[in-house]
Amino acid sequence: MIGRVRTSTRFRRRSASGAVLIGLLFPFLLRAEPFSADGLTPAEARGKIIYTAGRSPAGGPLYYRLISAGGNSFPARGTSCARCHGPHGKGGRGGDAVPPDITYGALTKAATVSRRERVAYTDALLARAITEGLDSSGEQLSLLMPRWVLSGSELADLLAYLKRLGQE
Ligand code: HEC
Repeated sequence: MIGRVRTSTRFRRRSASGAVLIGLLFPFLLRAEPFSADGLTPAEARGKIIYTAGRSPAGGPLYYRLISAGGNSFPARGTSCARCHGPHGKGGRGGDAVPPDITYGALTKAATVSRRERVAYTDALLARAITEGLDSSGEQLSLLMPRWVLSGSELADLLAYLKRLGQE
C-alpha cells in the first residue's frame, strides 16, 4: 500500500519536471523550424536561391529558353533574376528593354513597362510571365527576358520569395 503511494508521487514529480523542460525548450523549437537565419521561411529561402543564384534548390542549374535562339533551352550558369532585376528587385538601367521593378508591390499594380501598358499581375499571371514570357495583359515580353523552365515547386518557392523581395 505504502509502496504504491510512493511510486505515484515519484511519477508525478518526474512528469512535472518534464513539462517544465518542454516549456523551456518550446520557444527554441518553434524558432528553429520554420525560419532560416535571415528570417525567411523554408519556401522563401529556397526561392531566394533561385532568384540570386539561378540554381535549383534541389541542386544543379536551372534552365531557360531563349526565344532569340529558336526557343532552345540553356543552363542558367551565372545568370539569375538578380543579375538583371537587381538584388532587391528594383530593376536595372539602360537600353530599350530595361529589366523592370519586380517587387510584389510594383507587379500587383497596373503600370507602363517598356512603353506597354499592362494590368496588375495575379500569381497565375506572374507564373506565366516567368515561364512563358507573356506580360499580365498577354503581350510578349522582350526577348531579353529568359523564359524559365521551372517545376511546380520551384515556381511556388520563387513566388514566395518574390513576395518578400525588397523587404528583407
Ligand atoms: C537577362 C536579363 C534577365 C534575367 C536573367 C531575368 N529577367 Fe525578367 N525581365 C528582363 C527584361 C529586360 C524584362 C522586360 C521585358 C519587357 O518589358 O518586354 C523582364 C521582365 C520581367 C517581368 C515582367 C515585369 C512586368 O512588369 O511586366 C517579370 C515578372 C520578370 N522579368 C521576372 C523575372 C524573374 C523571376 C527572373 C528569374 C527567374 C528574371 N525575370 C530573370 C530581363 C531579365
